[in-house]
Amino acid sequence: MCGIFAYAGDNDCRERLINGLKVLEYRGYDSAGLVAMDKNGKVFLEKAVGRVSALANEVDSRKEDSWTYNTGIAHTRWATHGWVTNENTHPHISSNDRFYIVHNGIIENYKELKSGLEKDHNFYSQTDTEVVAKLIESLYDDNLKTTMEQVAKKLVGAYSLAVIDTQNPWTIVWIKLWSPLIVGSAEDGIYISSDVNALASLAQSYTILEDHEMVVIEDKKYSIYMAGEQIERASETIDEAQKIDELGNFTSYTEKEIFDIPAVLKNAWSGRINFDEKTIQNETLDALWDLDVERICIISSGSSYYAWDMGCYFFRKFSGISSQTIISSEFLADTFIPDSKTLYIFLSQSGETADVRESMKIVKAKWCMTFGIVNVVGSTIARMADMWLYSHAGVEVGVASTKNVIAQVGVLLLMAMSLGSKRDMQISDVRDMISELSEIPDKISETLMQGPHIKKLAIKYSKYDHMFVLGRNYFYPVAGEASLKCKELSYIHCEAYSAGELKHGPLALVSPEFPTMVFNPMGKFYGKTISNVQEVAAREGLILWFISKNDTHKELYSDAIELPETSELLSVFTWLVSSYLFALYLAEALDRDVDKPRNLAKSVTVE
Ligand code: F6R
Repeated sequence: MCGIFAYAGDNDCRERLINGLKVLEYRGYDSAGLVAMDKNGKVFLEKAVGRVSALANEVDSRKEDSWTYNTGIAHTRWATHGWVTNENTHPHISSNDRFYIVHNGIIENYKELKSGLEKDHNFYSQTDTEVVAKLIESLYDDNLKTTMEQVAKKLVGAYSLAVIDTQNPWTIVWIKLWSPLIVGSAEDGIYISSDVNALASLAQSYTILEDHEMVVIEDKKYSIYMAGEQIERASETIDEAQKIDELGNFTSYTEKEIFDIPAVLKNAWSGRINFDEKTIQNETLDALWDLDVERICIISSGSSYYAWDMGCYFFRKFSGISSQTIISSEFLADTFIPDSKTLYIFLSQSGETADVRESMKIVKAKWCMTFGIVNVVGSTIARMADMWLYSHAGVEVGVASTKNVIAQVGVLLLMAMSLGSKRDMQISDVRDMISELSEIPDKISETLMQGPHIKKLAIKYSKYDHMFVLGRNYFYPVAGEASLKCKELSYIHCEAYSAGELKHGPLALVSPEFPTMVFNPMGKFYGKTISNVQEVAAREGLILWFISKNDTHKELYSDAIELPETSELLSVFTWLVSSYLFALYLAEALDRDVDKPRNLAKSVTVE
């Protein structure tokens, strides 16, 4: 949540800061601001409520100010403390107008700190961050670096926090605890960012900061400190995969990312499944299953939670291992009973989700085994985990996760099969599954060809305010994920139920104004689900069926999306993709901002 970006170098920083914020906007888009300084401490400050484009317009309207401001820090906000107003927008300023700060994270003890500072300072905002600006002023000891060491000691919470000082205009000091912080070196200076993607087309190399470290940028060079001592850290080279793709002919990144899914899935399996030999080949998994694992507990949030729920079905089916999934915020709320024979798996696209990260801290503190599945390379959860796999979905720009969820499901399936093949799964079954897996990317492409038909149905259903989504077995979490995507992209109230559960209460809501989407592949529960849905039809509820091409009761359906024939289990991929297209087109029909749905942010770094 919240993105921060900084530059110190030879050139004017304002355009660079705006461009950096544009990439980081997925982290929050309630308001944005920047402060830039020239060599003599002359200050350029601008803030705007709304998107980074609003800030860019404000900065543009002052272009007669052609001064070169070499040093600057910038912020895009996802509101946590205080309304979406100009006053609450970062940068925040000390009372003496000397220190400017931007912050990503939450200062949990800000109220306490504020009450101690109130006698000497007037506060203009409702934010936790302004308190830190005032704290810096009150602790200032003529040296910004040592002052920030003292400041860090007083803060409780999570922060990636940058400060500039009008009286030392070449210097930026940055402290970090839990929130991400990456430094990039480029020919024209030093860049700092909340993620690597914003640095990818600017810097040649980057360094990821660890907790409790501090970066000091002076004279276009940076130094890293830990507990007051300077430390050396090797930098890494920017990788092509960290660059954001061009949008091309797509109207949104969400659309592009859905259409990228066949390639993404191939990538997630590449080098891990040998399709010629029909074997799974992965050293990490081989080493993992050599450990004494008797149970699996999977911890995640949002879409990653639904992906995991599908994963649990796969683990139980292929390896007979007991597996359960827990929403990370509920894991935090519950009593943790450590079990040395349980493998705790943490699934996160961003690798930064605070609820997941905090759950992992609890598990690690009890010396239990942790495994991460993350998309963002080098992210906190990947670095904390004992072992991990990347989902290799590439940079996901749309705030609603799509291509990464499919990659996660692909990795989970691979893990379950890999464990299964070391346990009771027959070699011939593994080989058959791998043969079928090799066809899935093409079946997804075939599903995507249904776009125009799905769009027509989405336009029809976009006039309703409520919807149910029903599924059973693997398709219950698929229904959960589909309902989440419809909600967040279209803002239509959409609730997922197990098809068998509807009659136990929710059926009371069904009416001609309350349609139901049903996921019913040909399989074990096909007939039962049809019976359940007859109960909806009997109440004049409108029904949208997601069925297989070889469905035997097509005469029953007035609205249906027909999906390629696959085995029941593997049809989760095509069903998910069709539901993503449906959610996208619902949102487009309602003229929503699909890449940046209201109230949301992609990387949720607060609990
Ligand atoms: C929904 C969505 C969110 C995330 C959730 C967890 O489309 O993207 O529900 O899945 O915030 O995020 P990660 O996977 O980054 O931990």
